[in-house]
Amino acid sequence: MALRTILEFPDPRLRTRAQPVTRFGNEVRRLIDDMLETLYHAPGIGLAATQIDVHQRLIVIDVSESHNEPLVLINPEIVAREGSTRTEEGCLSVPGIFDAVSRAARVRVRAQERDGTVFERDCADLLAVCVQHEMDHLEGRLFVDHLSSLKRERIRKKLEKERKIQSRRDVPATRSAL
Ligand code: NI
Repeated sequence: MALRTILEFPDPRLRTRAQPVTRFGNEVRRLIDDMLETLYHAPGIGLAATQIDVHQRLIVIDVSESHNEPLVLINPEIVAREGSTRTEEGCLSVPGIFDAVSRAARVRVRAQERDGTVFERDCADLLAVCVQHEMDHLEGRLFVDHLSSLKRERIRKKLEKERKIQSRRDVPATRSAL
């Protein structure tokens, strides 16, 4: 298993539309293991392959408090949706930013397991929100796309500024001692 690097907004690679998974062999199993390790390490509750620059329709989620109930969704589709809810969302690709987004309150998702078996699952509450958020990633969409363009621009600038501060800190002492 290996930790993967998570792309951050506004990286254009996050805008890539993912392709269906067609082969259910060792490669996809390794990818799922890496994604789960990356998710638990972050830590987060959901990760789409898009976020680690792998453009396949694959999501891992764990909304349990004990972090031991992983849900793997390959080629997910929402087959039914009901109600609406407004939830404060965050994203590993948009670090430190949280804002309210409206989604369906309940969804029924059809997906494949790691061995290719098709299953359906009814999702409510945080799990329903998470499924919709992660499926957005597979379409190249981010939760900030649900906010106003003014807010999105403010977020982009804030993250840019934080990254600059971070990279100054990363400069080794010998290089800054001119
Ligand atoms: Ni996200």
